[in-house]
Amino acid sequence: MSSKGGRRMRDRVVFLTGAGTSVESGLPTFRGSDGLWEGQSLEDVASPSAWAKNPAGVLAFYDARRRAVLAAQPNAAHDAIAALENTCDVIVITQNIDDLHERAGSTNVLHIHGEVLKARSTVDPNLVYPLSKPTIEIGDLCEKGSQLRPHVVFFEEEVIALKEARKAMRSAHRVVVVGTSLQVYPAASLVYEAPSDADRYFVSPDKQGVPNGYMLLRGKATAEVPRLLQEWQ
Ligand code: APR
Repeated sequence: MSSKGGRRMRDRVVFLTGAGTSVESGLPTFRGSDGLWEGQSLEDVASPSAWAKNPAGVLAFYDARRRAVLAAQPNAAHDAIAALENTCDVIVITQNIDDLHERAGSTNVLHIHGEVLKARSTVDPNLVYPLSKPTIEIGDLCEKGSQLRPHVVFFEEEVIALKEARKAMRSAHRVVVVGTSLQVYPAASLVYEAPSDADRYFVSPDKQGVPNGYMLLRGKATAEVPRLLQEWQ
């Protein structure tokens, strides 16, 4: 690849985003002061046992999150990440189940915790359907006649596309981790798959929790991500 001013053309830039990327679009984080898990217990709404015990309660929890996603708009961080595709080879690995990266224009997004705007069969996890309505009801069935559930990874379940995400991280020239507390595995372990010679950045308003080898860009995603990426346009 030819280089221009010491920079490879079409650098591979990999993002790992978390709830902090969407919080300025009005979607709550999980562990902040007004976080989603403050009001709920994970066991009651986002676990296989919750689904077995009270599917209607789980459906209602995700219906509410889906309505919030549908009412939200991408923010400047989503927009800057999408615009970077004009000059770089971008892969977005996201823990978020919203579609704000896609709505901003990102075309290569790996949802390792699923997508709240899709439904999944409960007998065949490969049967995934885009939702034509904002809710999933008891009695909404897949083509094999089983109850549909949100296409979201519950706690204790396998994450999605982890091999692909690891491969993407290993191929990165630059890694930007945005808006995640890195408290959930295996997603959090992805930060250490980045090559040691990659430029690595961690965007967060907090100064703690910065992974080794990452440069902290302290601030909100909508301020720090556009600022960082404008140099790469
Ligand atoms: N800009 C950037 N980061 C922010 C902002 C902001 N405006 N506001 C908050 N943050 C940071 C917080 O400091 C915190 O580190 O975003 C992070 C959000 O952390 P969590 O709420 O733990 O969300 P996340 O890391 O995405 O959670 C991972 O946990 O519950 C599961 O499946 C769920 O995907 C989720 C996973």
